[in-house]
Amino acid sequence: MQDRIKEILSYAREKLEKINSSAECQSLRVELLGKSGKITELFRFMKEVPNEKKGEVGKMLNDAKSDVEKMISAKETFLADLELEKQINSVEKIDITIPSTECTGSLHPRTIIQHEIEEVFKSMGFVVEDGNEVETEYNNFTAVNVPENHPARDMQDTFWLDNGQVLKTHTSAAQNRILKKYPLPIRAIFPGRCFRNEDTDAGHENTFFQLEGVIVDKDVSVGNLIYFMKEMLSKIFKKEVEVRLRPGFFPFTEPSFEMDVRCPFCDGHGCSTCKQGGWIELCPCGMIHPEVLKNGGIDPEKYSGCAFGLGLDRMTMLSFGINDIRELNSGNLKLFKQFKLKA
Ligand code: DAH
Repeated sequence: MQDRIKEILSYAREKLEKINSSAECQSLRVELLGKSGKITELFRFMKEVPNEKKGEVGKMLNDAKSDVEKMISAKETFLADLELEKQINSVEKIDITIPSTECTGSLHPRTIIQHEIEEVFKSMGFVVEDGNEVETEYNNFTAVNVPENHPARDMQDTFWLDNGQVLKTHTSAAQNRILKKYPLPIRAIFPGRCFRNEDTDAGHENTFFQLEGVIVDKDVSVGNLIYFMKEMLSKIFKKEVEVRLRPGFFPFTEPSFEMDVRCPFCDGHGCSTCKQGGWIELCPCGMIHPEVLKNGGIDPEKYSGCAFGLGLDRMTMLSFGINDIRELNSGNLKLFKQFKLKA
């Protein structure tokens, strides 16, 4: 009996050495420890072992049983680890810490133009400010001389919030805050997203961007306004540009103008961009109304100012040859990918 036990143990060891799958482990387990397994069978012979030997042989048999079980389990664990390692090694490895060699995203064309314009104005001593998208009715209308119940409010139909605030209809909404915030003299630009209740077409969007500017100092004149705008446009269009002023109307400026630029694409000879007219309407502007200065805590007897509200979308469309404003909010990757290099 003892010899038989030893024999089975060495048989198990030999077999396990050659085994290399968990299925083989399982059949060895059945062969030795199953219902009619070799070790299980030996238990049946225990009744034939003489009584004085029963303790010793019984212990040997029990030890053999648990040793075999342990050996098979150890081999199974070993094989499972090996299998996992194989799987891990066969999977494609991606090292996310390696720096990318290619820039896959890009700045929105409008952001590119906005940054360019900001740089030009910064070089001329302007600060760049942020405006809110949700504004108080006072800042959006009353502070810029569009009083409650005045028909001028109809020019800009907007989205009202339940709390009485509005989605700002123009970047001029930040004028009051900026006039109060900075010590004089002031030179500031503030780009931002605006909203209007508007039917959309190639030239109109309910969500659009403007870039507002204010200059307040002693003796500011229309000459200052023309100078700064000409400088900025010449840098953006990379050539000396000519501008002209036409009379306009805005409640927050007096006098008010529409500033046109001689078409930089055909030098005014007439092309599809300027619709053969030779001039492009670009920027409403004017001398800041004394009421607006007063609302900002500035004495209009001592100081004067000019302001402009450049259409950032319009500038972007002109610079990049985009002819439908709705493209700018479309998320159209085919369009935006063309501007990848500038990211
Ligand atoms: N806020 C005006 C609009 O959205 C544009 C504008 C006109 C801004 C004249 C100005 C300005 O600063 O002086 O229609």
